[in-house]
Amino acid sequence: MVLLSKIATNDGHGENSSFFDGWKAYDSDPYHPTKNSHGVIQMGLAENQLCFDLIQEWVENNPKASICTPQGSNGFNDIAIYQDYHGLPEFRNSVARFMEKVRGNKVKFNPDRIVMSGGATGAHETLAFCLADPGEAFLVPTPYYPGYDRDLRWRTGIQLFPVVCESSNEFKITRETLEDAYEKAQEANIKVKGLILNNPSNPLGTVLDKTTLRDAMSFICEKNIHLICDEIYSATVFDEPGFISIAEIAEESSVSKHRDLIHIVYSLSKDLGFPGFRVGIIYSYNDAVVNCARKMSSFGLVSTQTQHLIASMLSDDIFVEKFLDESAKRLAERHRVFTRGLAKVGIKSLGGNAGLFCWMDLKRLLKEPTFEAEMELWHLIIDEVKLNVSPGASFRCSEPGWFRVCFANMDDETMRIALQRIHKFVIQKTGLDQPMTRKQYKRSELEISLSFRRLDEFIMTPRMLSSPHSHMTSPLVRART
Ligand SMILES: Cc1ncc(COP(=O)(O)O)c(C=O)c1O
Repeated sequence: MVLLSKIATNDGHGENSSFFDGWKAYDSDPYHPTKNSHGVIQMGLAENQLCFDLIQEWVENNPKASICTPQGSNGFNDIAIYQDYHGLPEFRNSVARFMEKVRGNKVKFNPDRIVMSGGATGAHETLAFCLADPGEAFLVPTPYYPGYDRDLRWRTGIQLFPVVCESSNEFKITRETLEDAYEKAQEANIKVKGLILNNPSNPLGTVLDKTTLRDAMSFICEKNIHLICDEIYSATVFDEPGFISIAEIAEESSVSKHRDLIHIVYSLSKDLGFPGFRVGIIYSYNDAVVNCARKMSSFGLVSTQTQHLIASMLSDDIFVEKFLDESAKRLAERHRVFTRGLAKVGIKSLGGNAGLFCWMDLKRLLKEPTFEAEMELWHLIIDEVKLNVSPGASFRCSEPGWFRVCFANMDDETMRIALQRIHKFVIQKTGLDQPMTRKQYKRSELEISLSFRRLDEFIMTPRMLSSPHSHMTSPLVRART
């Protein structure tokens, strides 16, 4: 460690935190249906793999778009040479149109304001470098995506200051909570430079309504601070209420003179399921930020081969429409089956309508309402249930007992196994030390109703019913007796 910089030797990346234990557990014992059927199932990865077949089909039907194919190699020379950091015009145009489409064509994006970055990760860091100096802070509503601590803070030296949101109002962001956080930061002598919103939210899987967006806008205008809106999950909204982009608010006449405080972070990692392609976007309404971020983008450009492919794919209107439609349908179905599978053993989750995960409430399974108990339960889930889920503490949630579970990075069969393991675990846990009350059973029976018949068939397998814990009557069985 001698002779290295402070950045090289500090812990700001977060990789050494205990939250990586789940990943390590998965890496050392990954589930495989035939080769390692008792291994750890990865439910801590927000990946969208439900529509790979559509992408694959498009790639096969459009070999010219990939320049390393006989059909595309003609374009190789033009693409392989140095490009300027503005990005290919066709790439910026197609991304701008795609972003408009995802927002129901209610807003316009100017391709000249699109700046490339290495994923949303790079976009956040670039914005942090543009908007704040070391020691200054951004407010972030909790619970929030753990990567923000790395992306916004590690190399820039800025701070994140929590806006504490609570389950009592479904973790909604209110003007009061924003004011409260701002005041606390001032009391601590921390200069607040902006607010970060993540809409739809990771980990909540919910969208922000117009009132909340307008309140946040008027808050940042009053304080004269920036607003970064991370809209990386914009096309994962699969149910009502629909997605409202900050771009819609930006176009309202009342905010026109403050528009240059707004910056959107976007990427194709979630909406198209391309995290490996590292296509990130900064869309800023501020000319100086666009200028500076573009210069900084030299450190994280998207390769021209990728730009070329994405430009062709996103300009195929028929494909894009079909993809967006089908992706939303498949996510909705996954979410429906998964959350109902959880409800079947009395596990509630926040009513989400977006994202690749759900925010699961396991307070009932905690020994006591503490983060130590949450950690203990989490280790049990990793070590015994063999599922890598993510504990609320890693999202800086203010209340113990919440867990994020990803459901779109696996096939149907793996999800079925995961649900089966959850069922077995909850039945065992609740049977041992905290049986559900009669009233709770009744309620869960009502919630799950007849639509669970299909699930029953594949989840309550004979093997499970004759498990070592079968002497404990499951909620499902009791609810029917
Ligand atoms: C809210 C949020 N922002 C940013 C990122 C980083 O995305 P990318 O892979 O494009 O860097 C993620 C990834 O999980 C995320 O959930």
